[in-house]
Amino acid sequence: MLTKKKKQEEERIMIIGIIGAMEEEVSMLIDEMTKKEELKIAGMVFYKGTLRKKKAVVVQSGIGKVNMAVCTQILIDRFDVSHLINTGVAGGLYKDIEVGDIVISSDALQHDMDATGFGYEPGIIPRMEVSVFEADQEMIKTAKEVCSEVNPDIQCFTGRVVSGDQFISDNDKKHELIERFHGYCAEMEGAAMAQAAYLNQIPFLIVRAISDKADQEAIGNYEEFEKMAILHIVRLVLGILDKE
Ligand code: ADE
Repeated sequence: MLTKKKKQEEERIMIIGIIGAMEEEVSMLIDEMTKKEELKIAGMVFYKGTLRKKKAVVVQSGIGKVNMAVCTQILIDRFDVSHLINTGVAGGLYKDIEVGDIVISSDALQHDMDATGFGYEPGIIPRMEVSVFEADQEMIKTAKEVCSEVNPDIQCFTGRVVSGDQFISDNDKKHELIERFHGYCAEMEGAAMAQAAYLNQIPFLIVRAISDKADQEAIGNYEEFEKMAILHIVRLVLGILDKE
């Protein structure tokens, strides 16, 4: 027998909120949408319509955790999204990861949350029960299945996304994020969406393609490989929507 919560979830209409920080991360998805309507709220344009036969709202949040948190709450309050996906590029941290590869979030945390002065561990949010936000298992499963189908020539990893209001382009910082937080990739928004999703009990997933390796060459690599990485991640997002 279905629990009440499960039944409510199943009865709820599926509306997928898809957020990218930058225009180039969402423009191909917006172009793919049909029956779309535009609404501008808090300076962000929300595209509500159909994407690969699914009801979806696609939006460019802007860069950083504050933009992402505001955007996520609007998607929840005003568009009643049932699922959240954050898509885009990231700096690779995990040792075997290459530019163009994909990270599917197992969970996400804010690497720049620092209340160590009060005795908290780095990354721990004071006075909250949870600081590491777990992605939805069903969404992870679907993304893993789809990733190798739509991107057969790259590696797809499932691991921790670490977010902060910093572009990481320094080897020492990169190794700190690996050793301290076990991050697979670093970016600037995912954990903010994850926290907002957690607070509102909405299932979420972060999917990121690697544009650089978060080291001294990160800026040059980012400029060179961003477009290719975005192609990979767009294929994955559309593949996820095509499932079922
Ligand atoms: N997004 C893409 N590359 C990144 C990096 N190295 N640091 C933070 N965000 C990123």
